[in-house]
Formats: sequence, C-alpha cells, structure tokens
Amino acid sequence: MACHNYNEKYMHRCLELAIQGIGQVAPNPMVGSLLVYEDLIIAEGYHRSYGEAHAEVNAVRGVSNKELLRYATLYVNLEPCTHHGKTPPCTDLILEKGIPRVVIGTPDPNPLVAGNGIRLLSENGVEVIPGVLENECKDLNKRFFTWHIHKRPWIILKWARSADGYIDLERPANAPIGPNWITSQTARILVHKWRAEEQAVLVGTNTVLKDNPRLNVRDWSGKDPLRVVIDRNLKLRSSSHVFDNSSETLVFTERIPAPGKTAEAAKPAKEAIVQEMNPDPSNMPSGKTRYAEIIFDGTAELQMLKLLYRENIQSVIIEGGAFTLNSFIEKGLWDEARVFTGPAYFRNGVRSPEITGNRKESMMIDNSLLEIIYNR
Ligand SMILES: NC(=O)c1ccc[n+]([C@@H]2O[C@H](COP(=O)([O-])OP(=O)(O)OC[C@H]3O[C@@H](n4cnc5c(N)ncnc54)[C@H](OP(=O)(O)O)[C@@H]3O)[C@@H](O)[C@H]2O)c1
Repeated sequence: MACHNYNEKYMHRCLELAIQGIGQVAPNPMVGSLLVYEDLIIAEGYHRSYGEAHAEVNAVRGVSNKELLRYATLYVNLEPCTHHGKTPPCTDLILEKGIPRVVIGTPDPNPLVAGNGIRLLSENGVEVIPGVLENECKDLNKRFFTWHIHKRPWIILKWARSADGYIDLERPANAPIGPNWITSQTARILVHKWRAEEQAVLVGTNTVLKDNPRLNVRDWSGKDPLRVVIDRNLKLRSSSHVFDNSSETLVFTERIPAPGKTAEAAKPAKEAIVQEMNPDPSNMPSGKTRYAEIIFDGTAELQMLKLLYRENIQSVIIEGGAFTLNSFIEKGLWDEARVFTGPAYFRNGVRSPEITGNRKESMMIDNSLLEIIYNR
C-alpha cells in the first residue's frame, strides 16, 4: 500500500495490530500502538482482550531500554484514554514515561475521553499529531463509533440467494426442518468467522421454525455471539437449538412467561413496553434464555436496537429470513449487507430481499458471488 509519509506508514501498522483484537475486545475498541525511535519500531502492542491492558501499555512494556521512551514517538489509532476504567488512564503512562511525541489516528467518541486525551497531553508539553489516517481508523472501529454516536449497534445484514433470487425453496408442509444450502462449505466457514467477530446474531421466527439454526461459532474459533430471536407470539418450540443453553439467547416478544410457567403458558402482557432485561431467573424457561418485551407497532426494529444498545451490544448480524431483513431494510436500519449469490436456480420459493447501496467489495467464494454493500 502506498504511504504518503512516515506517520501514515506507522499508522497502517497500528491498524494491522489493532484488528487482531476483533471479536475479543468488544465493547472496547480495537487499538494498536507502536513506539518509534530513530525511524525504527522498538515495540508494538495491541488491546488483546476486554478488561486487559490497553495497546499503549503493551507497547511500552515491549521496550527493553526504557530510557529510549524519552526520545520516542508513540503511534496509536485511537486517542489515549484519560479515565479509570478496568485499567488506569493511558495518558498517565505517557506522561510518566516522558514520551515526547504522540501520533493519533482519531479522537475517541466515548464522552469520557472525547478530546480530553489530546488536550491533556498537549497541556503537559507532549507534541500531539492527531488525525493521521482518520477515516481508516474510524472505519476499523465502526462498531464502537456507531454505538457511541448513534446509540445502536452496527448492523450487518447477511443472506444467501439462488441465481434467480430466492433465499429458500418452496417447502411442502411435511418438509424436513433444516436449511436448504445455497453456498459451499467455504462460505459457511466464512459466516462462522463473521459470527465470531460480532457480539450478536439475530433471526426471525420462521427461520427458527424452518431451519432450526444453532447460530453459534462451530467452524471457526472464537466467542459465540448473543443469539437474538424474534418470537412475537411465543410460537417457538422449547426444543429449538437456540434454546439449547449452549450460549445465551435473547427473545424479543410481546409476552413474557409468568414465573414458573413455560413459554407456551405465558399470558398476554397488559402493557407492552421496552423494559430492562428481566432480572428474575425464575421467570425464564431455561437458564441462558432471556425475554424482552417490545411493542409490535411499526417501531419494533428501533426498540430492539435500543435494547441491544443498552446491553452494550455494538454489532449485530441479521441472518434472515426475508421478512426480518426487509423490515430493517425498509426503515434504513442497516450499515452493511453481505450477500451471497449461489449457482442454483430455485424457480420458486421465498423471494430474496433487494438492496441498494455502495458496493464496497465483490469476490467469488468457490461457486458463489459475495457482494459487500454499504448503506449510503
Ligand atoms: N438463504 C438465506 O440466507 C436464509 C437465511 C435465513 C432464512 N432463510 C429462509 O427464510 C425463510 C424464513 O423467512 P421468512 O421471511 O418467512 O421469515 P423470518 O424473517 O425468519 O420470520 C418472520 C417472522 O418473524 C417475526 N418478525 C420478524 N421481524 C419482525 C418485525 N420487524 N416485526 C414484527 N415481526 C417480525 C414475524 O413473526 P409473526 O408472524 O409471528 O408475527 C414474522 O412473520 C425460511 O424458509 C428460511 O429457510 C434463508
């Protein structure tokens, strides 16, 4: 990649380091950092895991001759923090070690930092160069920025369609439960990698009824996302894989089961309101399933996103089906779509959603075309 100057070259390296934390650091941002002395990188670090050391701390730890820090430049893709979170402020470390120059990719949108890091360093005599590769740095942390600025998760839509535009075959009433695959095993592995990168995966009621997906990470290594299921009238069988307690599931519904009652025996809620997650485990039919009531009045999608925001969920992949995807597309509530088009012709079935936006990338994954589209 062509770099216009040294600062950009080193900031690119920070981004390469930062991305290694994907799927591990949320709801923290992905951050990479390095220290340069006389045009040599003397140490590198990145934020590896939520609650653990920040990138700057790991970079400083990697310098064997700490005297050099007094002459070095620190590069970092996100403004150093000024507040005590799970770890002490990085600005304290920079000042304590006497690092004279700090090059920053982008300010931190977190109101607890938001320019305070840059100001504090400058006021204490550190030369600060902000805004190096700012767009690239914001794009890397699009989940974190969207959560802080728009107060909702980054929304990724994902589906696979046949060559003639269907996401499923027409199924007779007695058809077996399970997906009709459109893409190859390689594409499915990629989808598992994507699940490991995001905090939540959401599907509609019919997808659970017809495909019975597990919605976890099996063909890749990483954390399982929170499984989010829409089940307005509590139609889903408790034997569905999403209720197998192998990972957490959140159900958006109009009704909440009464204490000690099964989902099927739930009474209609007197008033449906967006409420905090039910804190009483006796109200839940199974250990890792929680219910959240929403009003299905045309603002359901916004209410779901608001609740996910309050749960510190910074990204969600919506994996279908058509009704669910369309309900988010119609309201413009999406950021990115990842659409596979396979080689088979279905002739009939469930119509694929249509989407328009900026095509960011397209590539072949075995026999399927993968298009990545961003919302304008
Ligand atoms: N090829 C792929 O990538 C892919 C992926 C997933 C699924 N699929 C296929 O898609 C089919 C299922 O799609 P589908 O369109 O029939 O159903 P769906 O989107 O899975 O579920 C639709 C149902 O979920 C509830 N729902 C979802 N979003 C809602 C909203 N915003 N507001 C209110 N209710 C909402 C409603 O349930 P109520 O009717 O109970 O109110 C609605 O009827 C299956 O055949 C499956 O195999 C394909």
